[in-house]
Amino acid sequence: MRFQLKKVQKEHYIMSVKFYKSENQVPLEMHKVRVVQKLNLLPVDERLRAIQKAGNNTFLLQNKDIYLDMLTDSGVNAMSDRQTAAMHLADDSYAGSETFNRLKTAMKEVFGTDNVLPAHQGRACENILAERFVKPGMIAIMNFHFTTTKAHVTRCGGEVVEVLHKKGLIPQSDDPFKGDMDLQELRRVIKEYGPEKVAYVRVEAGTNLIGGQPVSLENMLAVADVCHEFGVPSVLDASLLQDNIYFMKTREAQCKYMTPKEIYHLLAGKMDIIYFSARKLGFARGGAIISHNTELIKSMMEYIPLYEGFLTYGGIDVRSIEAMAEGLYESLDMDYLSHGPEFINYLVNELDAYGVPMIKPAGGLGAHIDCQGFVPDMPHDQYPAAAVATALYIAGGIRGMERGTLSEQREADGTERFAELELMRLAMPRRVYTLSQIKYVADRVKWLWDNRQLIGGLKWVEEPQVLRFFFGRLKEIGHWQEELVSKFKEDFGESL
Ligand SMILES: Cc1ncc(COP(=O)(O)O)c(C=O)c1O
Repeated sequence: MRFQLKKVQKEHYIMSVKFYKSENQVPLEMHKVRVVQKLNLLPVDERLRAIQKAGNNTFLLQNKDIYLDMLTDSGVNAMSDRQTAAMHLADDSYAGSETFNRLKTAMKEVFGTDNVLPAHQGRACENILAERFVKPGMIAIMNFHFTTTKAHVTRCGGEVVEVLHKKGLIPQSDDPFKGDMDLQELRRVIKEYGPEKVAYVRVEAGTNLIGGQPVSLENMLAVADVCHEFGVPSVLDASLLQDNIYFMKTREAQCKYMTPKEIYHLLAGKMDIIYFSARKLGFARGGAIISHNTELIKSMMEYIPLYEGFLTYGGIDVRSIEAMAEGLYESLDMDYLSHGPEFINYLVNELDAYGVPMIKPAGGLGAHIDCQGFVPDMPHDQYPAAAVATALYIAGGIRGMERGTLSEQREADGTERFAELELMRLAMPRRVYTLSQIKYVADRVKWLWDNRQLIGGLKWVEEPQVLRFFFGRLKEIGHWQEELVSKFKEDFGESL
């Protein structure tokens, strides 16, 4: 059986509901909570102990020590009643599974093709793409790299070349599509290296490392055209496409009256390959590679049983595939698509109005603090964004993530590669937090902003060679964290 979904595409969603008397526009949830998880807010001394025990790396904090987990939007989105119900229908057969057939039906509905290869998450798709297309000496062109994407390309002997439009790196602007590629630069790079040296051109929707900034539909389609002209494969990383579609519909005139489904279909028809992490797109777990081109799909097929699992499950638990299928239908619903971007917009506006340097305009995925503005005197090699993340955990039990120099790989000669942007991300898990919790986040960031002169840097204690931000350990330079705790007690007294 399959659940009947709303067939009508509405033009009304969260933002259309006006309040009679209120402060500014308030994002209104179009869902209610029916399952809850208890949260814990430790006293400030214990928060200090917890972050130091975690090597000043928010990845190493324990969930029991966290009040609001805003580390990531990946695999932490709330599932709907329909998704959890669908999980009961899972068919565990190794081959010929009905669950896989349901995934194919969902893919056909959302992307217009059921040529699909399941893989256990987004980076597994990236591994397969890199194995299939990247040979030593080749380049992969992108609007911007993502950490795992770059790691796979370089592991296969390739190099990432970024052709982000220069507007993307201006922290505060009102440009609606800061994730756009510079099309002239794209052509120039393809010509400079020669198309045969280009493994693929990858457009990342909702560009993660520059603050969840969207790419316009116009730009995505133009990139596909350039790729077609030069005979180079075009790849869309659709992990953050849900948010990106919300922005296309609200910021791009030609998309206003298109349904999300029309946009998905248009993109899937133009791009050679789409892959995504279902930990984001589809509010579930897992990942997938799709293409309208059967030959391309066949050319990657053998890697699935080799690295992932049989072609019907690709290393994903079947229950998660059911949740993913149902979640894909939900990714057509503007009520659901709006929640993250609207909550993020609320938080960014609150903080911006207080003077906190935020990445603007607000993007998808999370609110991003511009730490070069927050602690302007701190050198890049003391990891300003990571330092601010530890400070915010101490200030409020809120777990954010560093997205700056610490998230970069060192150059081959061991020198630091300083990130263009030093961001501290407060991810917004979809359909998870309430507005009062977001107001609390804003309040604690404001307090930290007023006390920013107390924040000091970090230095390495254990630095892994690969993806160091995940499990590396650092130490605070001096005793600034203790001083921050004293100031907190002075201002908040007995309050947690
Ligand atoms: C844009 C983008 N691509 C790929 C990935 C990798 O996906 P996963 O975490 O499922 O491996 C992520 C994860 O955050 C992402 O944001």
